[in-house]
Amino acid sequence: MGFAGDFKPGTVTTSAFMDGEIVIYRTRRGTLRVTRPYCPHLGAHLGAGGRIEGELLVCPFHHFAYAPDGTCQRTGAFPVTVDTGCYAAGASVVDRCS
Ligand code: FES
Repeated sequence: MGFAGDFKPGTVTTSAFMDGEIVIYRTRRGTLRVTRPYCPHLGAHLGAGGRIEGELLVCPFHHFAYAPDGTCQRTGAFPVTVDTGCYAAGASVVDRCS
């Protein structure tokens, strides 16, 4: 995965984890998060073109935006119905220098 300093604010990185992948990102304010790689909307890989907008991780396909707690905060440019279960499951990480 890497050290805390490897993940600069505004970056999205894919890393191998066990027999799959995880997506690691840091928001503009510095929150470091780990999430499953696939968007809960239609399964796009968040690490392949996903980007950070402020505190949100934005999917590269339809631009759904997820907060660090995994909740969907915004949909893309076109109107859609958001299932209340729309959730990019993530995990807290330990972010320390030593
Ligand atoms: S697949 Fe991610 S927003 Fe549609």
